[in-house]
Amino acid sequence: MQWWQITLIWFLCFYSISIFILSLRFPEKHLDWNKLDLDDLRFPKDFCWGVATASHQIEGNNHNNWSEFEKNNGLEESGIACDHWNRWNQDFELIKELGVGHYRFSIEWSRIQPTKDVWDDLIVKQYSEMVDDLISKGIEPMITLHHFSHPVWFQDEGGFEIEDNVSYWINFCEIIFNELSDRVKWWCTINEPAVFTTMGYVLGEFPPGARSFKKARSVSKNMMSAHAQCYRNLKKLPNGEDSNIGFVKNINIFDPYKRWNIFHWIQAKILDEMFNKCWLRGLKTGRFRAPSSIFSQKIDGLRGSADFIGVNYYTHLLTTPFMPTSVELEPLKRPWEIRTDFRYPMYAEGLRRSFEMVENLGVPIYVTENGVADKNDDFRPEHIRKHLWITSRAILDGFNVKGFFHWSLMDNFEWAEGYAQRFGLYHVNYETQKRTLKESGKLYSGIIKKNSMPQIVILAGGLGTRLGDLTEKIPKSLVKVNGKPIITHILNWAHGQGCRNALILTGHNGHKFKNFNHDKMSLTFNQEIEPLGTGGALFNSLDLLEDNFILLWGDDYHPIQYEKLVNQHFNSNSKLTMTVTESHKSMNLKHFEGRLINYDKTNPLEDFNGYEAGTSLVSKSIVEKYGKPGKWGWEQTIYSKISEDIFIHLDNTKFWDIGTPDRLSKLEDFFKEGGAR
Ligand code: BGC
Repeated sequence: MQWWQITLIWFLCFYSISIFILSLRFPEKHLDWNKLDLDDLRFPKDFCWGVATASHQIEGNNHNNWSEFEKNNGLEESGIACDHWNRWNQDFELIKELGVGHYRFSIEWSRIQPTKDVWDDLIVKQYSEMVDDLISKGIEPMITLHHFSHPVWFQDEGGFEIEDNVSYWINFCEIIFNELSDRVKWWCTINEPAVFTTMGYVLGEFPPGARSFKKARSVSKNMMSAHAQCYRNLKKLPNGEDSNIGFVKNINIFDPYKRWNIFHWIQAKILDEMFNKCWLRGLKTGRFRAPSSIFSQKIDGLRGSADFIGVNYYTHLLTTPFMPTSVELEPLKRPWEIRTDFRYPMYAEGLRRSFEMVENLGVPIYVTENGVADKNDDFRPEHIRKHLWITSRAILDGFNVKGFFHWSLMDNFEWAEGYAQRFGLYHVNYETQKRTLKESGKLYSGIIKKNSMPQIVILAGGLGTRLGDLTEKIPKSLVKVNGKPIITHILNWAHGQGCRNALILTGHNGHKFKNFNHDKMSLTFNQEIEPLGTGGALFNSLDLLEDNFILLWGDDYHPIQYEKLVNQHFNSNSKLTMTVTESHKSMNLKHFEGRLINYDKTNPLEDFNGYEAGTSLVSKSIVEKYGKPGKWGWEQTIYSKISEDIFIHLDNTKFWDIGTPDRLSKLEDFFKEGGAR
């Protein structure tokens, strides 16, 4: 054998082994979706379900770096966009109708500070009203402080290219945080800095349309530093410690197009490093090596500067050394993959790989964006189901994924792509500004409703007979315990269990609740014209009841884990599941093999073995079937009629009521000692 033959054999062996190891170490997973049950979704009941938008994409008539760029480059102009600045009120109704409990949106710096020396308080006021309105609807706001757009003056001064400019943005962040952090607990600093720099300074597709690695390096570094400063400074402000401030990273998965081709692998690894790894490593270690630089540098305050990591995931890209550098060209895809309207493929498996990539940051993961451009809503339903399945499975496998925000609430201005790409759950007719829920929107909403805590319904009309003066003028549920009405304690507990909406049946004394509010829950009150009793109150509220609801008593405090009760109810297909404690002084029912056998509040029998603890899960169909107009009592009527069809949920957690001054003072002590946790 000649020397070159030996060399060739050695080379081929080395090459095959390297490719083999790479393939093993970095598999490109593809699931056989036909074999999977996509309806098998399991999410914790306190999972954060949301939708996301960004100011420049929906508000309309913004004047910023983007609007200038659109004009100067002959792009489709954002113009009035979704006219959200004037229609936010109706749009928030749409969010509520979806059933999501969270909404991620961005604050438009250019509106608030249109020129360097003008600060528009009226605009801040509107954002503040928007926040209040969201909260009153039971929707928690999550604010992004920079989502691709900023004032023209800032850009004119060099934007994030210049290190000294960062302080302008930090100043804006601090003021906004001071205004809103008493109500807003979720903050994202900068949206996708890697996209901002690559698109704006390498590919030239975003403002300022530059193509310079040198500038891209400075912008990357300054943005990382801006993020770190923002995080550290906001944490020091009032409410800072209680706020969740995170970093939002777009994860692009890069896979070699030909898995036997080392050049494709090299390209994949370079892009992965530049687009994903260097940013995540920076966050973890505090040392950042900006894409295309040789050396890393320490950035003050960067290490660990995220209370959560926001993952924006859309696709994977198949790499070759000759990949298109223009987003208009079709990226490569596997033959079986769907090509989305944005030309890149749908690859849900990449979401799991994104979780794997961010996991070692050791902070909770939120999918802050995931969605698809699909004009006719042909494959969005499938997109949603697959990505939620991946998320649900990841949670079961132990990933700390806490929330999912669909991109986007409604069709909107898709940056350089204009209005052609439609990402919304609601279709927007840009001529009339009419919003219409798409089939995919209905699907997402249905999944959320199935996986969220049901509505709570509180019977709050009861007047205390044994509390003397205390309840002469107010219903029992408004009696203060440790400084707050008992109903506030009940709502606090329910909110902690993941509930967002409460229907309060105020009896005929509804006016007493006139100024009653809760800082986190969306409350609906229903007052009766004449006293109707507990059953009558429910029947009177049929239109306001959801299909299944958690029924509570306005004068009882019962800090149990709702999730167990809810799961039991749905798993057993029950129509009424009642919580029963076996460790109560007195008994008022008999249960056997998980069913109610007998219930008698006034004359308990010898063989009674449980006490109804007050938290039940009820299907509306029961109220419809057995209810009647007029005055009637819930327990006396319903429990006797369907007793054996009532399922028992055993839970011996202590149950508190304020029926007598003595019991009231015991509950008072309990709260003074810290209450339930
Ligand atoms: C951005 C959004 C954009 C979405 C869809 C994300 O990278 O944050 O603003 O609309 O992708 O392309």
